Amino acid sequence: MTPFDLTGRTAVVTGGGRGLGLGISRSLIAAGADVIVLSRGELPDELVTHARDHARTVSGVRVDLADPGSIAEAAAEVLGRHTVDILVNNAGAQVRHPAAEFPLDEWDSVLQVNLRAVMQLCQAFGRPMLDRGDGKIVNLASLLSFQGGLTVPAYAASKGAVAQLTKALCNEWAARGVNVNAVAPGYMDTEMNTALLADPVRSRQIGERIPAGRWGRPADVGGAVVFLASAAADYVHGHVLAVDGGWLSR
Ligand SMILES: NC(=O)c1ccc[n+]([C@@H]2O[C@H](COP(=O)([O-])OP(=O)(O)OC[C@H]3O[C@@H](n4cnc5c(N)ncnc54)[C@H](OP(=O)(O)O)[C@@H]3O)[C@@H](O)[C@H]2O)c1
Repeated sequence: MTPFDLTGRTAVVTGGGRGLGLGISRSLIAAGADVIVLSRGELPDELVTHARDHARTVSGVRVDLADPGSIAEAAAEVLGRHTVDILVNNAGAQVRHPAAEFPLDEWDSVLQVNLRAVMQLCQAFGRPMLDRGDGKIVNLASLLSFQGGLTVPAYAASKGAVAQLTKALCNEWAARGVNVNAVAPGYMDTEMNTALLADPVRSRQIGERIPAGRWGRPADVGGAVVFLASAAADYVHGHVLAVDGGWLSR
């Protein structure tokens, strides 16, 4: 057993079936965890195969994070059947408009998925962790927890708040055995960045500014989440861990 071993632990990953979430689910399974994906979609076959190859279980529970009732139902369904040791709030939404014209209904929906749903899930899964005095929560922050970005004011506001929420929960929950931390991915090659990747000028400019010399991949984030979900991070609380190829150091 290494301190990074997650054998016997059960993890919930929101949006764990594609993009960074799929990389996170794969890494948690490879580290020994059983995974429950909270998602609007089907479990991908490759994740089912990956779990089978590692003699772990993976299951899916439907949720629409835009709907607080759906979140409550999904959490109750999972907690009725499982003791959840690890919660990864990965799912997130992105909408691009210039700030002056940003539709406020879209502002509300981004803040609902990226912030309110995170708080609701931290409460739902955090309460039993607090009762047991044991649990790990990892939230997905962003470079835009630190920087403002361009044409993404709702996303930047939500991710700034996720970093602060992570610290606020840490202050209340660290002494009660629950670690709350965040991972802040840099520019990752996922569907969320389709618009940036399709823009040859922006894509090249971003790539040139990354000290590691490449965009990030889902597996890059998985290792950081495994660390924060493991005993190796028992004394790590309220930290926002950048996984950005060095972007913030530039
Ligand atoms: N990609 C990056 O460069 C980057 C950088 C920094 C931070 N992040 C953060 O990392 C996380 C994952 O990003 P990603 O790049 O993997 O994004 P993505 O490819 O766009 O995937 C978004 C995920 O969120 C889920 N989701 C969105 N709205 C939902 C809703 N209403 N209900 C349930 N699930 C919903 C999606 O599920 P469905 O399959 O059901 O649509 C999908 O699994 C997000 O929190 C994002 O903000 C990403």
